Amino acid sequence: MSTSPLASARLHHLADLVRRRSGLRLAVEHGERIASKLQPVADRFGFRELGALLGELEEEPDELSRAVVEAMATHETSFFRDPAVFAYLRDSVLPQLMAARLVPRRLRLWCAAASTGQEAYSLAMLLDDAGVFAEGWKVDLFVSDFSRDAVMRIKEGAYSDYELARGLPAPLRARYCVPSESGRWHMVDGLRRRLRVHCFNLLDNLGWLGELDLILCRNALLYFAPDIRLETLVRMTGILAPDGGLVLGTTETVQDARLYLPVAGAPRGVYSKNPALMRRAG
Ligand SMILES: C[S@@+](CC[C@H](N)C(=O)[O-])C[C@H]1O[C@@H](n2cnc3c(N)ncnc32)[C@H](O)[C@@H]1O
Repeated sequence: MSTSPLASARLHHLADLVRRRSGLRLAVEHGERIASKLQPVADRFGFRELGALLGELEEEPDELSRAVVEAMATHETSFFRDPAVFAYLRDSVLPQLMAARLVPRRLRLWCAAASTGQEAYSLAMLLDDAGVFAEGWKVDLFVSDFSRDAVMRIKEGAYSDYELARGLPAPLRARYCVPSESGRWHMVDGLRRRLRVHCFNLLDNLGWLGELDLILCRNALLYFAPDIRLETLVRMTGILAPDGGLVLGTTETVQDARLYLPVAGAPRGVYSKNPALMRRAG
């Protein structure tokens, strides 16, 4: 993409739009990378040149703006990404939460920025293995992303061989996946209908989620502008139970959101507002 002054001004407008609508920080110095992400949107909306798309974008037409913003996000994900984190959820966090919630027998969890769903299905498999579905617990497993394509894929719950090979152990594939005529594998209905899937932007009001026991928001906030990342983390404290857990990506920290503390002995990225309470629950 050309970096003439005009193009550069348009790139800065694009970065501003993306920031306002998603929180994502766009590196305008990487014009080529931005161009390669814009190209499929240009093709879809019938623009012959990216310059024309950027020009039209200055008016911020809703559908085009939304498609462009969604295209700027990174959707990299896999089943049981960072296995040590999922092992910790299985062996420590879930048993502790279940012990602490024995009386209402209710768990409320949110997989935020879930991309195409592998993370959410991984979590659902852990919950199933822990017996919460079979033993009559009321489980609210909210799963969301702001990308409409990603949300469609979560709802569909169908994955290629390649996607399954990235992190899903063979015994779990045998238990939870059924082959389909399209050559892909479908998550069994019993698992798929446990997910409450929503198209949701992290910048929007979190109130509808109610109080949550566990929030997974992994590998999304690291792409946000620092001030919006901090503000989002702070808003999340408002819906996290006092002994609840927040799980970020292993390379992410809560930075200045000092209401969260790292859980001692947990892999990087696991936080709680009160780690002592979280440990005592076990
Ligand atoms: C790299 S993926 C992470 C997927 C998964 N959590 C993981 O760690 O494997 C980041 C996801 O964040 C989503 N995302 C980015 N900005 C968002 C926003 N403002 N609201 C909701 N989702 C957002 C993207 O659509 C993308 O699917």
